[in-house]
Parts: sequence; C-alpha cells; structure tokens
Amino acid sequence: MKNFWNELPKPFLILAPMEDVTNAAFRQVVARAARPEVFFTEFINVSGFVHPLGNASVSRRLQTAPTDTPIVAQIWGSKPADFALTAAKICRMEQFAGIDINMGCPDKSVVKSGGGAALIQNPKLAVEIIQAVKNNSKLPVSVKTRLGYSSIDEWQTWQKILLEQDLAALSIHLRTKKEMSKVPAHYQLIPDIIQLRDSVAPHTKLIVNGDIADRAAAEKLYKVFTGIDGCMIGRGVFQNPFCFEKISRQHSETELLELLKFHLSLLENPNQNFEPFKKFFKIYINNFIGAKELRAKLMSSQSPDQALQLLNF
Ligand SMILES: Cc1cc2nc3c(=O)[nH]c(=O)nc-3n(C[C@H](O)[C@H](O)[C@H](O)COP(=O)(O)O)c2cc1C
Repeated sequence: MKNFWNELPKPFLILAPMEDVTNAAFRQVVARAARPEVFFTEFINVSGFVHPLGNASVSRRLQTAPTDTPIVAQIWGSKPADFALTAAKICRMEQFAGIDINMGCPDKSVVKSGGGAALIQNPKLAVEIIQAVKNNSKLPVSVKTRLGYSSIDEWQTWQKILLEQDLAALSIHLRTKKEMSKVPAHYQLIPDIIQLRDSVAPHTKLIVNGDIADRAAAEKLYKVFTGIDGCMIGRGVFQNPFCFEKISRQHSETELLELLKFHLSLLENPNQNFEPFKKFFKIYINNFIGAKELRAKLMSSQSPDQALQLLNF
C-alpha cells in the first residue's frame, strides 16, 4: 500500500481540518499564500454520506483542487458499517492520499450522536470503527483525537489503545474534550507521548496540535521534541494566512488584498448566501491603516461582486 505519510520531511506541517473554514476554496488560498505539506478536508459525516438519497452538502466537502495536495479526507460518525462504506467510496474517488477518523470533536450534537470525542469514552466502538475503515481502505488510515475526555490523566490509556491499531498517523490535539480550547495546550506531555508511541507503534507518525502559530513555531517545537513527526496548525491561519511560509516576513496590504480577491474569485456560486463568507474578511483586512473602516464596508456588501468592487475602488 502506498503510504504518503512515509514520504514527508520532518517536521511536516498540516493545515488542520476546520468545519466551514478549510473548504476547497480556502485551501486553495492557503496553497497560494504558503503551502503546508498536507491538507485535510473538513470532516464528513459518514451516515450522511452513505444515505441513499445522497447529501449534496456532505459531498461538496469532498471537492478538491489540483493545488491542495496531498489531501486527507476526514470522516466522523458512530456506525462502523457507514464508516466501511464511506471508506470504500472515498478510495474509489482517487484524489485522496489518506483517510482520517475524527475522534476529538467536542461539538454537542456530534458527541450526542456518539461520534467525535464521544468515542474517547467508548474505546470498543472506536476500535471497531478503525478496523471497519482499515478493512475497506487501500489508503493509509489515521486518527485525530484529544488527550482524553474529562481529565488529562486519561491520555495514556486512550493513546495506547489507538497506537495498538497500527495507524499510519495519529494527530493529538493536546487538550481534553472538556477543556475545549480554553486552556493552553499541554506540551509538557509530549516527551511521554513520544515514548509511548516509540514503544507501542514506532511506525505511526506522531502529529501534535494546539496553539502552534506558524512554521517557525512548529520548527521550534520540533527542536525541543525531535520525536514528533509533524505539527498541525488550525487557528494560526486566521492570524496569518502566510503561516506556512518557510521564511517568514511581513506581508503588505496589497498582498493581503490580492489574496482576498483570489478567495472571492473562487466562490462557486455568486448567488449563494454571502453571509457565511464574511468571517474570512478579518483574516485579510487586518493590521494596516484603514483596515477597520474597509472591513466595516465589506461587512455590508451583499455579494462577491460587490465586495470586489469595494476592493478595486
Ligand atoms: C472553526 C473550527 C472548526 C473545526 N472543525 C474541525 C473539524 O472539522 N475536524 C477536526 O478534526 N477538528 C476541527 N477543529 C479543531 C482543529 O482542527 C484543531 O484541532 C483546533 O483548532 C486546535 O488547533 P489550533 O490551536 O491550531 O487551532 C475545528 C476548529 C475550529 C476553530
């Protein structure tokens, strides 16, 4: 089986999956600004995906572009049979390099349905799900999770169970479900986690996640904890869309505006509700004189065209 995880440099960087943010258009923006080594899709609900009527919004999340490669499809749910069907379907789509299972999402509705972080409390089902995906995938299978559910002391038991599943990679958001993103990531546990990975599954790539701002911060972390293989960056991209660049520098207002124009040009359907897009403005319209005023004007625009007109004025 071809395993792209084995071909990556160390430390490799990943753009974290973020629902309603890291869609195909935004991934192309990040690829243009400065590429990470790996992309993830937003998570896809397996039961929605395999539903006989199909679900356009679920399938839309599996759209990719030639620039956002290699890309891993992230899936979530609680039914092993649906995971099995989804894995087989994703493999047939051919544009994906891997499949990742979400076992860390703290969202109330996700947890209530038995998926995401709920699986930390149901390791038997978590193992069944991993096996269902592995048995139906010719792609490498990975898991993204948190340290534990309510207490950081759970990390050892939970990560050991995951590492025993012969995963291609394991990404750990260094907080518990209960902590959400309210406390600093627990970097102090990284040496013990590396030791556990080395003793249980030395071939499984270990990826750490939480509060990493940019490539320079990831490289600094790697210098201290050389046993990790990669770092995943999520919200850092909101502060700096160029956060994956190899030599970081200040970016001009013009560069930021060009990036926003490129993002707007990628919107699939210009007649679609424009409101959800507006959260992106503050990524680009920030840290320059007049940014606040321009952002206020953009917030009242009603379409990509109107926003572009304001930017070109
Ligand atoms: C808006 C938003 C959406 C997210 N959606 C997902 C998701 O679909 N799948 C997932 O595994 N994690 C998701 N996460 C969690 C991130 O991937 C990441 O683990 C978390 O933000 C911590 O990393 P950071 O400190 O670099 O942001 C999401 C986070 C945010 C802020």
